[in-house]
Amino acid sequence: MKKMLSVFVMFSLLIISCGETKKEDVKKEVEAPKEVAEEAPAAGDDLIAMGEKLFTDKTCVSCHQADAKIVGPSIKDIVKVYDQYDASLVAFLKGEKEAIVETDAGQVAIMQANLDGFVKDLKDEELQALAAYMKSVK
Ligand code: HEC
Repeated sequence: MKKMLSVFVMFSLLIISCGETKKEDVKKEVEAPKEVAEEAPAAGDDLIAMGEKLFTDKTCVSCHQADAKIVGPSIKDIVKVYDQYDASLVAFLKGEKEAIVETDAGQVAIMQANLDGFVKDLKDEELQALAAYMKSVK
């Protein structure tokens, strides 16, 4: 009988502790939206990191440096003009908007070759990442 009682006590303890973990789970779920909101800047950082990698992988870096003009204008010069005109880098990369930084036909043709060549195959998210990275260059 005593043994039965201790088994019963253990069993009820088990149930109680399970009940507690469930309660914690529920609490976590309730808090989740707040956590997501706090993580939003981190998601931005992820996009920037992805863009930085793409900028190298997709050879943009061979013509665009942060500060100095090489073949193409520097990233900072591009972003300055885009901010000034409140223009969309993604729209330009999608070929929806014409060049506004350098409008010399020869220069535009060089960039246009990239847009027609491989930039058109990039996903929306990749273009957003490239734009986010370019804007993050300070
Ligand atoms: C072979 C050299 C070259 C490569 C590679 C290149 N660009 Fe360019 N890019 C240029 C030149 C030259 C211009 C100046 C002409 C112009 O503004 O369209 C330019 C201009 C731009 C502009 C400004 C467009 C405007 O409004 O005037 C953006 C934005 C840009 N490039 C982004 C990129 C990105 C992103 C990549 C990689 C996916 C890339 N470029 C790869 C040469 C290059």
